[in-house]
Amino acid sequence: MKNKRIGFATRMGAVAATVGSAVGLGNIWRFPYQAGENGGGAYILVYLICVLLLGVPIMMSEFVIGRSTHKSMKGAVEQLTPGSPFKYFAYIGVLGALLICGYYSVVCGWVIEYLWSSVSGNLLGHTTEQYSQIFNTFVGNPDRCVLWTLLFLLLNFLVLSRGVEKGIERIANVMMPFLFLLLIVFCVNSLLLPDSDEGMEFLFDIDFDDLGWKGVVDAMGQSFMSLSLGVTCLITFSSYFKDDSNLMKDAVTISSLDTLVAILAGIMIFPAVFSFELEPNAGPKLIFEILPTIFQQLPGGTIWAVLFFVLLFFASITSTISLSEISIAFLIDEYKISRMKAIAITATLMTIVAVLSALSFSTLSDIQLLGRNIFDFLDFVGPNIFMLLGGLVTAVYVGWVLKKDVIHNQLTNGGKHKASFVQAYVVFCLRYIAPVAIVIIFLYYIGVI
Ligand code: PFF
Repeated sequence: MKNKRIGFATRMGAVAATVGSAVGLGNIWRFPYQAGENGGGAYILVYLICVLLLGVPIMMSEFVIGRSTHKSMKGAVEQLTPGSPFKYFAYIGVLGALLICGYYSVVCGWVIEYLWSSVSGNLLGHTTEQYSQIFNTFVGNPDRCVLWTLLFLLLNFLVLSRGVEKGIERIANVMMPFLFLLLIVFCVNSLLLPDSDEGMEFLFDIDFDDLGWKGVVDAMGQSFMSLSLGVTCLITFSSYFKDDSNLMKDAVTISSLDTLVAILAGIMIFPAVFSFELEPNAGPKLIFEILPTIFQQLPGGTIWAVLFFVLLFFASITSTISLSEISIAFLIDEYKISRMKAIAITATLMTIVAVLSALSFSTLSDIQLLGRNIFDFLDFVGPNIFMLLGGLVTAVYVGWVLKKDVIHNQLTNGGKHKASFVQAYVVFCLRYIAPVAIVIIFLYYIGVI
């Protein structure tokens, strides 16, 4: 009984929880800083193309694997195609999720620091240069960074210990609508700032000279990061879906909402960046430097700051919950251990990665991997290698190996919905577009192109 698979109570709950997984720091912290580093418009166009050609089809393929078996990756592949070596990629998914969740929790810790300083009234009242310094001083402080990261992980695992329905679904149901509302308010605020049109031009004017291969790679990795693809997260989540959920509709809804949030985050940030004559390419610290500057220009700035960081906190925790659930479900399914044991093992491993990442701006800053500190290394390797590789494997598995009638049955719920065009599109993208695009990226990494 203790290992019985508990599903989401309602379709809305399942969709909200999956949107909760997708929408997170990836949209609100990572997408703007990456767009800023890669010149804006052209990056966003490539990003949107990646969502359409790779993101939506791979999301559907993960749903097909998870919902048809109600198992996480390894068990699912064993059931669908006994003896297939594809099941071993489950380990890559679990490892990728542990690494990503490790460094991601550090940014969640930054969010708590900024929330704390907003609540205590210390955040506002500085110049932009001071905000840059404040950020650097904070991340250079090992105790504070580690403390907030650990606090975040503790909250994360507390929610997880309450189980899928009680914990994840309830949080997602309450927080997602709240998040949309706040984002829209911030966007309107930003658009009303003087010279906001320069920021909009930066976001939407397409100039390929600013992009280059690095921009293409970043956009592709970011689309996977944002949609939670390639680390078996959506296989795990859809294993909790009910059999009558409409996978095509859900994948399109989730991808659209996720993309909308990323674009809204861009509209919230860049008009303000240009209005206050700040640099769009500040990297990972972008939102932490710029937002306080924005908040203090607004009437009731402290309240806006508190609301924003609360929003970001909830967006983050619904994502780390899903990242953690990958390894928890894997351990339960594979080793038949209790949920609490699986949580304890996952928490221990994740804490190790998180602490190492939190220290990579201070005590461990000398450790360099591929010319990056531990945090930046994981921020690169997680999305741009693990997720893309996982996406490639999923695309090849569902596109080439899995029987067509499994895909058809899942997408149409046994013939209840019409799916001929969608199915043809998905299978075409999985068979040809995703493998070719991802292999090109890997060839680029190893210097062949
Ligand atoms: N999609 C999340 C975000 O954009 O913040 C991050 C994420 C969650 C990635 C779950 C991967 C995952 F499995």
